[in-house]
Amino acid sequence: MSNNFLLILLSLIVLSCGGSGSDGIKEKPHPGYEYMPDMYRSFAYDAYSVNPNFSDSMTAREPVKGTIPRGFMPFEYANTLEDFNRAGEEMINPLENNDKNFQDGKVLYGMFCAHCHGQNGDGKGSITHPVYSAVPSYADDISVRPRSKTTMKNLEDGHIYHTIFHGYNAMGPHYNFVTDEERWKIVLYVNELKNVEK
Ligand code: HEC
Repeated sequence: MSNNFLLILLSLIVLSCGGSGSDGIKEKPHPGYEYMPDMYRSFAYDAYSVNPNFSDSMTAREPVKGTIPRGFMPFEYANTLEDFNRAGEEMINPLENNDKNFQDGKVLYGMFCAHCHGQNGDGKGSITHPVYSAVPSYADDISVRPRSKTTMKNLEDGHIYHTIFHGYNAMGPHYNFVTDEERWKIVLYVNELKNVEK
């Protein structure tokens, strides 16, 4: 008797799940009622939607003025000749010129500069497009900026850093590709190339 009873109970449990309609088509389970649906689903604005709560109607807010992103080093020299000269006079490479930093600089230079400037800095990189034909050698005793106070082989650390950051003419800005520390490492290596006999 107990065996039969268990069998009936089991089949009732199995059948009670996923009921089928009278015509044999399976009904969708009822989603149930939500108590206070606002608590599950907030009325959030889409990131780029118009927002009446702000006078400029932008939902995506800009960072507060003067905010500095974590790990970002502000650069206070503008992309002008005066600030190029000033960077050359004022900026000091914070890195020690040891083997590790120098070798890192060499690798970074190979990745970001050599295709135009040549691995040995002679200006004969693999890119031969006419726009880049006038890549100077770091050992040249000429200035590529009219009225700059320096020539290629006399570039100070700050000049090189400024050029990496802002670029110059056909050379685009590189601040986005390399971090502050990486720029200074590249400077260490470029200094070496100024002395290479070509
Ligand atoms: C797309 C090619 C290209 C790349 C990449 C490039 N440069 Fe240049 N660079 C140039 C050209 C062209 C000039 C000369 C611009 C001119 O005379 O108008 C130049 C000039 C310079 C100068 C001299 C600027 C001055 O005002 O005296 C320095 C220093 C320099 N580059 C460093 C670098 C370093 C370091 C890198 C890598 C982080 C790099 N460049 C990457 C093309 C490039």
